[in-house]
Amino acid sequence: TSRSDVVASSGSMIVVSNRLPFVLEKNKEGNLCRKASAGGLVTAVAPVVVNCKGLWVGWPGIHLEDPNQPIPESDPNDITPTAGLKSDKVVSVRIDPQIFDSYYNGCCNATFWPLFHSMPDRATFNGEHWRAYITANKEFANCTLTALRKLKNTENAGDVPLIWIHDYHLMLAANWIRQAAEDENISCKLGFFLHIPFPPWDIFRLFPWSDEILQGMLGCDMIGFHITDYCLNFVDCCQRNLGCRVDRKNLLVEHGGRTVRVRPLPIGIPFERFVELAEKAPKVLSTTQKIILGVDRLDYTKGLVNRLLAFEKLLEKHPEHKENVSLLQIAVPSRTDVKEYQELKEEMDQLVGRINGRFTTPNWSPIRYIYGCVSQNDLAAFYRDSAVGLVTPLRDGMNLVAKEFVACQINTPPGVLIVSPFAGAGETMHEALICNPYEIDGAAEAIHRALTMPDDERILRMNYLRRREKINDVNYWTRSFLAAMGSLITQEDHDEIG
Ligand code: ADP
Ligand code: G6P
Repeated sequence: TSRSDVVASSGSMIVVSNRLPFVLEKNKEGNLCRKASAGGLVTAVAPVVVNCKGLWVGWPGIHLEDPNQPIPESDPNDITPTAGLKSDKVVSVRIDPQIFDSYYNGCCNATFWPLFHSMPDRATFNGEHWRAYITANKEFANCTLTALRKLKNTENAGDVPLIWIHDYHLMLAANWIRQAAEDENISCKLGFFLHIPFPPWDIFRLFPWSDEILQGMLGCDMIGFHITDYCLNFVDCCQRNLGCRVDRKNLLVEHGGRTVRVRPLPIGIPFERFVELAEKAPKVLSTTQKIILGVDRLDYTKGLVNRLLAFEKLLEKHPEHKENVSLLQIAVPSRTDVKEYQELKEEMDQLVGRINGRFTTPNWSPIRYIYGCVSQNDLAAFYRDSAVGLVTPLRDGMNLVAKEFVACQINTPPGVLIVSPFAGAGETMHEALICNPYEIDGAAEAIHRALTMPDDERILRMNYLRRREKINDVNYWTRSFLAAMGSLITQEDHDEIG
């Protein structure tokens, strides 16, 4: 039995997130089909929902005209965990396109995303966007309540359902769900997990409606963050904004006559799945050069510009790497309707062009830049066959790419991981080379050190990194979350009940 089989929720589970694990698209024949969506949340949560046979409430990435249009099943060739999510387990949320634009592109991605990543200068504050956020959250809450009412009438009615809300898009939903469920005498447990950092109080309070955010989240029984620092920031904000009584040692917040638990629950990846992919994936890099690899959504928090500048500095200061090393940067298009993302795309195109123009020789280009999604197989092959994994966010809740890189390092000698201390991953992956992406010279030196690291040191570091991620994988994260919610049962319990 693999560890993934041991994960089960003692009641029914309803996962609520802005994004479903796929976006719906119309194919040439005009039929709807699923296309996998990228991002840490989906990667982590999809296997959980499939394993627990849970429901997933979310937005299908398209404004469906016909509310009754059935969601298609997954493509038979789909090898992602999402493939196991049957259409009858999906509740697709419909929101007026204009409201959705103000909610998603406005409040979520032009306000909360930069603010929570401690980049307030990039944040815009807009009352209309905030009102759209409230409306959208109400819609998600309503859809969740409808699903909850249906569950009440099924054979599992004896178990207390767990509603697990995800991320910064839905920080208000919990309170409304709790109130409505109480009014209708439906029991449920409410949990929340934030996949991005929670900022310190002096940044959080810049948001004009910050009290409402905290009150919304405190509708939950338990709130999870990646690391202890984010938990402490949250507890601090509850105390300073709302005047709640808090226990910083045990991470408890008193609110509305209840005690809300706060927990650091660092997310992991489906480690064994990546190992298997790496074992099977055909080689795609036909090169004699060493590859330095970057894989990210095209997002300003990921430190992509600094990364290119550090690579340029490396070629300047250590010319021996010319023609021997290439940077392969894969950037998935993301949030392309938001101005900051459009500007970053321009900046990257120019920078790649400038650096390549400066150094390219007849036999070699220093940077290979792919603006697009790659398949899971190719991704695993890139991870496996790269000498250096370069993960340099300016700020990042956790960063799964760092973990996926490590899982795929099955060759001997393995590659080297470089990670920023400003990612949650930098807090836990101690044997990586830690590098501050703001300091370009230091970052260039870290890359040089990685490229010239002796084999025995590479092996030692990678062994430790892999061991930790193998144990603390995504199933471990799910189990920890369910256990903290009092909703975990083991496979043995499950068999006995069954
Ligand atoms: P974020 O959640 O901010 O996007 P993470 O590093 O935590 O950052 O998660 C990114 C996820 O998206 C990873 O699981 C990664 O494999 C996936 N991903 C990133 N870039 C690509 C790409 N070009 N093609 C396919 N998947 C990608
Ligand atoms: C991060 C966020 C997720 C989000 C993902 C992709 O991982 O934490 O909530 O889904 O980025 O971004 P998108 O805006 O495309 O959903």
